[in-house]
Order: sequence, then C-alpha cells, then structure tokens
Amino acid sequence: MNIGADTISSAGLNPVTVYERGLSSRRLRAVDNEGQAMGMCVARWLEPAGLDDDILLAHCTRSTLDVGCGPGRLCAALIEKGVSAMGIDVSAEAVELARQRGATALRRDVFSWVPGQGRWPNLLLADGNIGIGGDPVALLRRVQTMLAPGGQAVVEVDPPGQGVSSRLIRLEVDDMVSSWFPWARVAADAIGDLAEHAGLSFNGLDQRADRWVALLGRGSPPWCTR
Ligand SMILES: C[S@@+](CC[C@H](N)C(=O)[O-])C[C@H]1O[C@@H](n2cnc3c(N)ncnc32)[C@H](O)[C@@H]1O
Repeated sequence: MNIGADTISSAGLNPVTVYERGLSSRRLRAVDNEGQAMGMCVARWLEPAGLDDDILLAHCTRSTLDVGCGPGRLCAALIEKGVSAMGIDVSAEAVELARQRGATALRRDVFSWVPGQGRWPNLLLADGNIGIGGDPVALLRRVQTMLAPGGQAVVEVDPPGQGVSSRLIRLEVDDMVSSWFPWARVAADAIGDLAEHAGLSFNGLDQRADRWVALLGRGSPPWCTR
C-alpha cells in the first residue's frame, strides 16, 4: 500500500483512508485486478502478538525496525521482551494505535528517510509486507540501506511453490473502495534470488506450521567470521 502519488490510479479513495476505516470497523478486504480476494487479518493485527508470531520475534534479538508495523502488535511484543524496537507506518491511525499499546512508532513511508537508517541490527517485514510497493527487489534494496553492516532482516514469505507475483490490488470496506495500487507476493523458494539481486545475503529459512520466514543479511552472515 505504497501511496506514492504515481501509484494511485485516478478512480477510488486513498488506500490509507480505506485501510483506516478497516482498522476501526475490523472489516477489510483486498481484491486483486483478477477479482481474487486476499486475506486481511485485521482482527489479528489488533490483538496482542500470539505464540504463532514467535517465528518472527525469535529472530529479532537486537534493536528492530518494524516496517509497516500497523497497530504495533509485534513492536509491543518485542518491547515487552526487553528488545528495543521502533515501528514505521504510512497510516497515522495505525501509528496512534501502536503508541497506545506502548510501542514506539513513527508515521513514515519506508521509501522516505527513516531514523537510524544504516544502523538497524534487525528489521522486520511481517504479514506480507514484502509486498509493499509491488517491487520486492526495490524494497529489499531499501532494506539493505536501513540495516547496519552485519544486520539481518526477518521477512515473512508465502509457502514454497508460488514464486513471485506482482499485481494491482485495492482495499474495500462496506461501500468504500480504494484506488488500485501495486502489491507483490513472494514465496519461500523465490526470496533467495531476489535477496541476492538486492545485495543481501540469504541466511536461510525458518518455518512453523504454515508460516515461513526468510533471514536476509547485510554483509556476511552473522556466523561467518572471516
Ligand atoms: C499487511 S499490513 C501489516 C500489519 C502489521 N504488520 C501488523 O502487525 O499489524 C501492511 C501495513 O503496511 C503499511 N504500509 C503500506 N505501505 C507502506 C509504506 N510505503 N511505508 C510504510 N508502511 C506502509 C500499511 O499502512 C499497513 O499498516
């Protein structure tokens, strides 16, 4: 839901406006330009982090930037665990909700300047946020510039077998329909090549039940001491 001016088609509401209505009504749908619906688990984003989120949080052991933090459940969980964390999101309402649950969060587009960029030891792209902007290599190149040397990104991906897809989607809540904007999906068996295209090292995958996470590093992997 990269809302840069050039990605908003003429018809439809600003995606962030519809997204924020979705957060308050807990009813949010995303549909792609082939009419296929995509799961939007608003209720889960508004709940505290659950055990199934450990697959992400277990890899965030150092200061973490949560890109597209939403209402901040993962940021808040990291702070509770004693790991310093900051979330960024384009939605003012999401940032406000994140702050209400004790998370540090800023209203920022990931493609604009972000405090601490180039010095984040860990960075989180959860819940399909690898799709932001619809061009995963461009997003991963941006991730590379925000990580500290030796830093590692924790990126949630789809199960293997579905490759990489980029499409136009829009958000719907009751009678509110957003404009189309690009979004991507990346599978576990495709993220390695994209990471290397973006100048990141592929440090492996983790999987628990149906959730898959890729570990991508800036510079040599943490265990590789030359
Ligand atoms: C799929 S939701 C993820 C929700 C979140 N991870 C959570 O735990 O609640 C995508 C989030 O990314 C944010 N987002 C979309 N484009 C963005 C951008 N260019 N920069 C920063 N955040 C963005 C949206 O506002 C939304 O909160």
